[in-house]
Amino acid sequence: MKDLVSTLTLEEKIGQLIQIAPFFYIEKIDKNVFGPLLDLGISEEEIFLTGSVLGIKDAEEMIEVQKTYLEKSRHKIPLMFMADIIHGYKTIFPVPLAMAATFNPNLVKKAARISSIEAQTAGIHVTFSPMADLTRDPRWGRVVEGFGEDPYLNGVLAASMVQGYQHDGIDKEGNLASCVKHFAGYGLSEAGRDYNTTDVSRLNLHQYYLTGYKKALDAGARLVMTAFNLIEGVPATTNAYLLREVLRDQYQFDGVVISDYDSLKETIEHGTSKDEKDAARQGIIAGLDIEMATAAYFRNLPALIQENKVDIALIDEAVLRVLELKRDLGLFDNPYKGASVTKAKQLVLSEAHKKASLEVALESAVLLKNDGGTLPLKKEMKIALLGNYATSKDTIGPWSWHGNPSDNNSLDDVLNGYAASLYVNDTLEAHLLDETSINDSDILVVAIGESRRESGEAHSKTNIKLSNQQERFINDLKQFNKKIVLVLFNGRPLDLSGVIDQSNAILETFFLGTCSSEAIAMLLYNEKNPSGKLPMSFPRNVGQVPIYYNYLNTGRPFKNDGNEYTSFYLDEKNDPLFSFGYGLSYSQFEFSNLIVKNAVFYKGETFQFSIDVTNTSAFDGYEVVQVYLRDMVAEVSRPVKELKAFNKVFVKKNETVTLEFVLDDEAFSYVHRDLSFKSDAGDFILYVGNSSTSTLETKITMKEGKL
Ligand code: BGC
Repeated sequence: MKDLVSTLTLEEKIGQLIQIAPFFYIEKIDKNVFGPLLDLGISEEEIFLTGSVLGIKDAEEMIEVQKTYLEKSRHKIPLMFMADIIHGYKTIFPVPLAMAATFNPNLVKKAARISSIEAQTAGIHVTFSPMADLTRDPRWGRVVEGFGEDPYLNGVLAASMVQGYQHDGIDKEGNLASCVKHFAGYGLSEAGRDYNTTDVSRLNLHQYYLTGYKKALDAGARLVMTAFNLIEGVPATTNAYLLREVLRDQYQFDGVVISDYDSLKETIEHGTSKDEKDAARQGIIAGLDIEMATAAYFRNLPALIQENKVDIALIDEAVLRVLELKRDLGLFDNPYKGASVTKAKQLVLSEAHKKASLEVALESAVLLKNDGGTLPLKKEMKIALLGNYATSKDTIGPWSWHGNPSDNNSLDDVLNGYAASLYVNDTLEAHLLDETSINDSDILVVAIGESRRESGEAHSKTNIKLSNQQERFINDLKQFNKKIVLVLFNGRPLDLSGVIDQSNAILETFFLGTCSSEAIAMLLYNEKNPSGKLPMSFPRNVGQVPIYYNYLNTGRPFKNDGNEYTSFYLDEKNDPLFSFGYGLSYSQFEFSNLIVKNAVFYKGETFQFSIDVTNTSAFDGYEVVQVYLRDMVAEVSRPVKELKAFNKVFVKKNETVTLEFVLDDEAFSYVHRDLSFKSDAGDFILYVGNSSTSTLETKITMKEGKL
């Protein structure tokens, strides 16, 4: 590849570092983008120097763009096609936040695997996924794209996605290269407002916020996307500490670093670059290889080299990484790799893929409340199906731009096949309901929630309740004296305080994708027992935000002992309405016999224990056994509880399953003041349970190594 680099002119080299949209290459494509791409001002000649493409619709479009490019470019180096395949191509899986609720890495891997297979038929080579930003503020619309508030769960699932996408190698047809994003700390956007500034200590950055990306890289992710935000006052896109010291030196990452959309130029708005030229200089020096959607490199790197402000070696290094990626993807052997209209017809939205999407959806929903066995529904019941989602097919959620809601069935269509009788009305005005039908029904199922456009990028909110109209509607339904089941659709944890007491059962579905309605019906009727667990805490009130289970203790923890000068609110409890890891099942599980093999163990040894899980109910079901640790005394304050392992287990009714866990040194390690990651001897509390709040506990001790 070095030889190839040396045959390129400077302009051709820089071209490899630019990514633009497909419509530049072929006029007829819709200019379905905003902002900077539209006024790039690059000439036709320059277009045929660029190196990669952002977003492509299907095989036909890809083939045409690639063909046109190869005809017109001198060097004939194929374009690389990248796109946001976030939770499916056309077979849409649950949104990542919902997939996180499965606590099932294999299912998440499967979703990514199928996304790759489908997207590759469009000739897409790289997906901008997973988003491994740790998310602790539900006001931020992008929490829907991530795996929630816990670094461990986030890391495990980000790694599973990478394994699913890249599978047995990015050279093989049907596999995508994975680009983990947004490096780093984008989830910290202040006050949950997207693109807002961020502030985090280096200690916390390494302890909590980098974990997800690191695990994705350990799993082999081939690209990294930078974030829009600042780290230590420097935009991530031009941040040499992040991109060189951490990524290249510490993590030994040798893949491609790409900016986020326009984020190189936006360093001017941040006030850290004087102009585009300054941005280009800082970007290439910091280690940014490809700039997305802008042309600062094109315009300015030649002059910067001439003026000796940028070393050509930096450009050669970046170009080499891009070309190596193209080589590893097999593009030099076949520039059209994967793109096939015939294969798309066979594979995309195939029955097998839809079945897999259903399988994931069935484990992604979380049963939040079920008073007195309101659920499951029984087939002989007469159902009134109400709410704005009663008839809607639009349950694919944000970031599913290849997906089409019309491929879904609506909930009323599916429930028709289940209920003894079904009265359907999707108004949100109680006075518009047919009273006779409501009175005649046994139970009210209210499918309600946020629209797909209320979460995702640039869709932040200060009010995370259901709308006033929705809350009023649910309140008004009380007059009918029927049991109320809420089926919720939303892209973030909501403040449910206004509807919790009004409902008898709540099934949180987030957005479950193509088979949303089928999954909901199966869960409501216990053809599948709910097993999802919350990956983010649901606050009682937006004023508690950010709220997460793995917080640090204060010097004055609230003890409810009458002492006023402790850490609490005058008007609200400290704890969330529903905590991380929480989720009900139609089964009841009891945890017992926490047997620790080595309550005192030496550093470097594994720590082992077992736990019995008994299903005391009349239904078979899945339970997620969660293992948490608290490090009692450390060099820096440690969280009151941290997830260290989990295992989802199937337990038949009236049966007991014994699970064994082995924790290694990593589970006991943390980032020290000097940023080293290691364990210290001392006491820990081990917690084992089915949520972050309900747990058995015991003290264990790590001793210094045996001499
Ligand atoms: C988003 C990224 C996305 C990129 C390309 C940006 O606005 O922040 O997550 O991958 O656009 O579509």
